[in-house]
Amino acid sequence: MLQHKLLEGKRGIIFGALDESSIATHIARQCVAEGARITLTNAPVAMRFGSIQKLGEELNAEVIGADATVEEDLKNLIEKSLAALGGPFDFVLHSIGMSLNMRKAKTYTDLNHEWMHKTLDISSMSFHRMMQVLYNMDAMAEGGSILALSYIAAQRVFPDYSEMADAKALLESFARSFGYHFGVKKKVRVNTISQSPTVTTAGSGVKGFHDFFSYAQTMSPLGNASAEDCAKYCVTLFSDYTKMVTMQNLYHDGGFSSMGVNPAIMTKE
Ligand SMILES: NC(=O)c1ccc[n+]([C@@H]2O[C@H](COP(=O)([O-])OP(=O)(O)OC[C@H]3O[C@@H](n4cnc5c(N)ncnc54)[C@H](O)[C@@H]3O)[C@@H](O)[C@H]2O)c1
Repeated sequence: MLQHKLLEGKRGIIFGALDESSIATHIARQCVAEGARITLTNAPVAMRFGSIQKLGEELNAEVIGADATVEEDLKNLIEKSLAALGGPFDFVLHSIGMSLNMRKAKTYTDLNHEWMHKTLDISSMSFHRMMQVLYNMDAMAEGGSILALSYIAAQRVFPDYSEMADAKALLESFARSFGYHFGVKKKVRVNTISQSPTVTTAGSGVKGFHDFFSYAQTMSPLGNASAEDCAKYCVTLFSDYTKMVTMQNLYHDGGFSSMGVNPAIMTKE
């Protein structure tokens, strides 16, 4: 694992490490390898069947349960993390997504709107809620960095991504809107990373995921970006080398988002 100590002395919270495949698991490992001290968090129910406790032991990180849809849980998480790390946070990662309609194979033209409400609450509003609690508790350090993970279906149509496309569009909008307020208050940066399809529990839940993964792999001149590559990119955005990057949606996709036609796909049997 590359180690340049880019995060030496920095403190952070990582949301969303469920198991070995989670993108957040790779990001947590890379942040600690780069010298950061972190706390880990996930929904209490996910902590029961995932492997976050093991990851916490490996990284010497306290694991604190919080449902990202519950403000009281987030306040408790931030209080405990401030105490565990001994000061305000230099970085926070939001790596949370879930769609009930997708899980239950409801198509986009036949969504259950109660479930859609839950999808938006978990996958998007949790980002605003998390930032609002950090802001009101003044828990970010001057010049800190907040990131959430997004997907290109926020800009282009990927029919099987269903309501998650709308959830990601809202997530990216929150990065711009809150980025303004956090920038003015404390020079805190807020960005989203639009990541390639990645084989994880949430990713594989999307209908036709494996076909789409291989389509994107062929379409992108560099191929799909892995979770390990995503972790390295996140480190740069948490580091002091990107102090003036804010309110952006940053593609981390091997070039996929700029492609029109790739002859390798046209000639594929
Ligand atoms: N896998 C992909 O292809 C891909 C591509 C682009 C973006 N992303 C995004 O990356 C992020 C991480 O997903 P992943 O692919 O690593 O899958 P994952 O299943 O490992 O992570 C999703 C996480 O969300 C957590 N979560 C769900 N409900 C929650 C709640 N109420 N409170 C707190 N946490 C909750 C889960 O427990 C899990 O840890 C998501 O935002 C996802 O949309 C994934």
